[in-house]
Amino acid sequence: MFRENLTHSKIRPKNDRFFILNLKTYKKGYGNEALKIAKILEDFQRKVKVKIGVAVSPTDIRMIVEECDIGVFAQHIDNIGFGAHTGYILPEAVAESGAIGSLINHAEHRLTLSEIHALIQKCHSLDLTAVVCTNNVATTKAASVLEPDLVAVEPPELIGGDVSVSTARPEVITASVEAVKQIAPKVGVLCGAGVKTEEDVRRAIELGSQGILLASGVVKASDPKKVTEDMLRGFGEHL
Ligand code: G3P
Repeated sequence: MFRENLTHSKIRPKNDRFFILNLKTYKKGYGNEALKIAKILEDFQRKVKVKIGVAVSPTDIRMIVEECDIGVFAQHIDNIGFGAHTGYILPEAVAESGAIGSLINHAEHRLTLSEIHALIQKCHSLDLTAVVCTNNVATTKAASVLEPDLVAVEPPELIGGDVSVSTARPEVITASVEAVKQIAPKVGVLCGAGVKTEEDVRRAIELGSQGILLASGVVKASDPKKVTEDMLRGFGEHL
């Protein structure tokens, strides 16, 4: 199964390449629309070596897991255990739903350093892959000390825009890659924000990242299949 390769115990952050699509709460990012996008990704996953993941709303995790053999991530989990925590997202429930990992500390859902640390440990105890989002080189350094599986650096001002991090802030990627190599060599580095084209992805890889975390470039595209195919070519995949 494709999705198993993305679990914490199987993932190879330094050897593999990653394309993780965050559906956020876009109108075309939940329910049946989320399933359509996940099916597109599943078809590509059969053809490419790049590891493809999709981060979905908690209400869609089980449905997407049951319908698609693809790595499904939660977009967020909370630092809580069993008990009286109404409305929070229990990491154990996310794991039980079949997700293989979670984003942690996304720019749109920030957490404290101590919460991030606790959630990485919780993820690993549940064999969930921990993808910690950061906003600059300094927070990338701090996050890498905590040894998640992947750090995804995303300058917030570029998120949702048309200019990619690899074009506008290449130094953020190179410095993050260099810092993580020194601090925690096993941790993989992704980048994101404004990534929309084959060239954006190619540059991100040339700058030393292991892949991309993206959203609007696919979810808001008029032809999500076409843009996904283009971006996978940016990894050197022949499609
Ligand atoms: O989680 C991915 C993200 O924040 C980047 O969003 O729309 O710039 O690709 P986007």
